[in-house]
Amino acid sequence: MSIVSITRIVRFNAAHRVYNPAWSDEQNARTFGKCNNPNWHGHNYTLEITVEGEVHPETGFVVNLNDVKTVAEREIVDVIDHKNLNLDVPFMAGTIPSTENLVLACWRILAPAVAPARLAKLKLWETENQYVEYDGR
Ligand code: NI
Repeated sequence: MSIVSITRIVRFNAAHRVYNPAWSDEQNARTFGKCNNPNWHGHNYTLEITVEGEVHPETGFVVNLNDVKTVAEREIVDVIDHKNLNLDVPFMAGTIPSTENLVLACWRILAPAVAPARLAKLKLWETENQYVEYDGR
């Protein structure tokens, strides 16, 4: 059995303020730094979506990557892009909008949507110097 992984990249930008409403302003500022700016700020995010599976003999594909792109654009990019993660994005409601929490939310949406391929890894870049990864564990 040969398992091959394949990756599709989508991009979006969004505003956020990272803060814990249970904490003081001082503790929030000390913990979250620039991402705690009260009047928001934005990031250009890049999400690498890696799925894996066996190569189907009739298509030569693990999965039709266009289907992955379509679902990622509909369920994630169209919901987040040019929006405020704190205010506008239903699946981030009540969640501190860190990159870590955002990648977990993306996993919950994409994992059931890429079948019959298996979602193997998400890599979410918040800046060109920083990314988070999640593989479902
Ligand atoms: Ni930030």
